[in-house]
Formats: sequence, structure tokens, C-alpha cells
Amino acid sequence: MINNQLENHWENVHSKKKENEVSWFQIYPKISLEIVNSLNLNNSAKIIDVGGGESRFVDNLLEMGFYNIDVLDISKSAIDKAKKRLGDKSSTINWIISDINDFKPEKKYDLWHDRAAFHFLRNQIEINNYVDLAADSISRNGKIIIGTFSSNGPEKCSGLEVSRYNLKSIKKEFKKHFTLNSHLISNHSTPFNTFQEFLFTCFNKK
Ligand SMILES: C[S@@+](CC[C@H](N)C(=O)[O-])C[C@H]1O[C@@H](n2cnc3c(N)ncnc32)[C@H](O)[C@@H]1O
Repeated sequence: MINNQLENHWENVHSKKKENEVSWFQIYPKISLEIVNSLNLNNSAKIIDVGGGESRFVDNLLEMGFYNIDVLDISKSAIDKAKKRLGDKSSTINWIISDINDFKPEKKYDLWHDRAAFHFLRNQIEINNYVDLAADSISRNGKIIIGTFSSNGPEKCSGLEVSRYNLKSIKKEFKKHFTLNSHLISNHSTPFNTFQEFLFTCFNKK
């Protein structure tokens, strides 16, 4: 999909659907937050949620005391909705409207989080570019958390084909710059009473 089509697709989704009318909705992003907790980061850690959309991950990071948070998404509507939900607290977040493929980070992050955005990359060049970009943008001793559909997960998300991963295949994509810290499989219960199997991995930058 070329950039404009991709942007239109996601604008359409976020402007037409309510937060809880999409399969990936979570009232509380438990797995991501448990992994964050396990990392014992300082509250000053620079964190980015890539493809954060309308996720409540950012709300919870603020609750936990983090204050250097960026949220990136291709969709302006998604960012606007997240800002509205957060009200006054939204001014403390650095909101970035960008396609991840075009993102030029201005800082080094201690934690890069991506739940269900990386898996939309299906072309090996884009996947390699993403991993290189993450490596360039993450500080020494920094971490990356990636949540994708597992090899038992759905073949599509939001009507778009995704890349599904098992531990071996995700390690292969990240091994140039990262070593595995932890992983787990989780079954996400969608608002439509179906289940989607996710693989969460956390890597350390080499
Ligand atoms: C399946 S949703 C997941 C949203 C959020 N991470 C969560 O867990 O609720 C995918 C998100 O990634 C965003 N997205 C998709 N492709 C993107 C890209 N190339 N660059 C930036 N954001 C993208 C979409 O707008 C959407 O908000």
C-alpha cells in the first residue's frame, strides 16, 4: 500500500469507529504494562509508543509516573481522540503524526513500544528499515517491546494482511541489533468475544 492509501485507511478507521469498536481495543493494556514494570525503568525514561493510536497505554504510563512520553501514529484522528480522552494531561505528551516509515526521531528512547503496528510491515525492506530505525533511535541499554499476531493469530488486522511471527522468526528480524530479553504468548479477547493470539517480545539493544 502506498503512503496515502495507508493514511486514508487509518484515518477512516479512527474517525468512523469508536475506541471499543475495533478488535485491538483494550481497556487496560495489561501485558505491555507488566513488561514495562519488569524493566524497572526510571520515571525519567524516554518512551515512545509507535502506532499508539487510541491506546490507553499512554494514560497508564502517566499514572505510573513516567513523564517523557512520545506517541506516534499515522492517523491524526487517532491522536486527536487520545488527546481528548487525556484532557489537560495530554499537554505533557509529545504527539507525533507520522508514518513510521518516514519517522525521523529527534531523540534517543530508553523504551520503544509497539503493539500491533510492526506486524503491518510485510515487505522485507520495510521490516529491515524499521529495525534499523529502532536501533538508531534507542539509547544504550534501551529496550524494545514488540507485540504482533503470533503464528496462530489472525492473518488480517483491520482488513489488512499482516506478518505473523513465532519466536524464531521475530528473533531473526531483530537479531542484527537486539538480543532477546523476554517473550510471552497472550490471548487477546476482542470486544466481539473472539480471541487473537499475540506474541510479545522484549529485546535489549546490543
Ligand atoms: C491495530 S492498531 C493498534 C493500536 C495500538 N497500538 C493498540 O495497541 O491499541 C494499529 C495502529 O497503528 C497505526 N499505524 C498503522 N500503520 C502505521 C504506520 N505505517 N505508521 C504509523 N502508524 C501506523 C494505526 O493508525 C493504528 O492506530
